[in-house]
Amino acid sequence: MDYRALDVERVHADTLLDGLRRPLHDLRISVTDRCNLRCTYCMPREIFDENHAYLPRSELLTFEEIERLAGLFIRLGVRKIRLTGGEPLLRHGIEQLIEKLARRQTAEGVPVEIALTTNGVLLARKAQSLKDAGLSRVTVSLDGLSNATFQRMSGSEVAVATVLEGIAAARTAGLGPVKVNMVVKRGANEHEILPMAEHFRHSGIVLRFIEFMDVGTSNGWRMDDVVPAREILDRIAVCHPLEQLDPHYSGEVAERWRYADGAGEVGVIASVTHAFCNECSRVRLATDGRLYTCLFASEGLDLRAPLRQGEGDRVLTNLIADCWGRRSDQYSQLRHAATGEAASQVKKVEMSYIGG
Ligand code: GTP
Ligand code: 5AD
Ligand code: SF4
Ligand code: SF4
Repeated sequence: MDYRALDVERVHADTLLDGLRRPLHDLRISVTDRCNLRCTYCMPREIFDENHAYLPRSELLTFEEIERLAGLFIRLGVRKIRLTGGEPLLRHGIEQLIEKLARRQTAEGVPVEIALTTNGVLLARKAQSLKDAGLSRVTVSLDGLSNATFQRMSGSEVAVATVLEGIAAARTAGLGPVKVNMVVKRGANEHEILPMAEHFRHSGIVLRFIEFMDVGTSNGWRMDDVVPAREILDRIAVCHPLEQLDPHYSGEVAERWRYADGAGEVGVIASVTHAFCNECSRVRLATDGRLYTCLFASEGLDLRAPLRQGEGDRVLTNLIADCWGRRSDQYSQLRHAATGEAASQVKKVEMSYIGG
């Protein structure tokens, strides 16, 4: 189908499929490329040091620009918007953006979930205002329970207690169901798998273990550093038998498992050893308004220029629909899982810029 020729008013969620017949449901927006942590797998301090050039303010999409684009994406079928970064809570006035997005979804007359991924450092003081602004739920990153491991993984001196307080505040504010993401890296924090599982059993919080990925070009990724999801599950099951659950929705990235004794649920995100590209319905709007159809992309579609040149909704919608229509990304599926050989040697963009 030639999306350039489509009549915008008639573009319907069901008609917008990419080259592999995948629909567009999930929009991830990176609102800042800055972060107050320096996780070794994402923004290693040696590279993201005081000389690192972050995007100047003028290059960031404004809240008004993000809101306008979000409205167009909703009309094209998006039903989940996730705010990411960098650390999204570092973006000044983030609550105002959430308010705008919540108002926009009401105006479009369809239910759209607004979620946010955070490292939790500023969450204790922001949880209630985020909820009041209209945020549906949060996912908090936490890679270990001991200060020594967490601080090594996050390249910081932040105490684990600060993040745990953030998680507690999110629950109190009703930003649930709260999920916790733990990236597992061989030899670095694998010894925290069981303590983390124990800590979040019986808590109602869903802990998800993520395989360390070769995203970007600065984290020194090696296949040897990946702890396969299967191994993670086996380690937990030795102490607490697990049973697999059906996905909540088609295209869910996490495989769901429940504790057989009823203590709750855990998940694994096996993006390396068990890729899920065939159902990938995610698009990413980077901090500067470029649109990426894959986490591992090297090129994005510039939406900021036409926005600032005053193009109307029809032109912008057709640009987005055309970009999605031509999409055939399946990086993780093409990467050789056994050897970790990259699917492409082209320089990839960094996760802090494109949005986790
Ligand atoms: P829920 O709606 O809570 O299920 O969120 P989600 O499944 O979108 O999960 P979340 O945003 O917490 O993503 C968790 C992690 O999965 C990300 O930080 C990435 O590491 C990984 N991930 C998410 N989307 C993709 C993707 O499209 N491709 C790959 N390879 N990894 C992804
Ligand atoms: N591998 C896996 N997940 C990553 N994240 C960032 N970098 C990587 C990587 N190399 C994800 C983590 C973190 C979120 C913000 O981004 O899930 O929680
Ligand atoms: Fe910051 Fe999240 Fe990247 Fe860690 S993973 S450096 S918390 S953006
Ligand atoms: Fe989607 Fe690309 Fe991730 Fe595959 S590797 S699931 S196509 S974002």
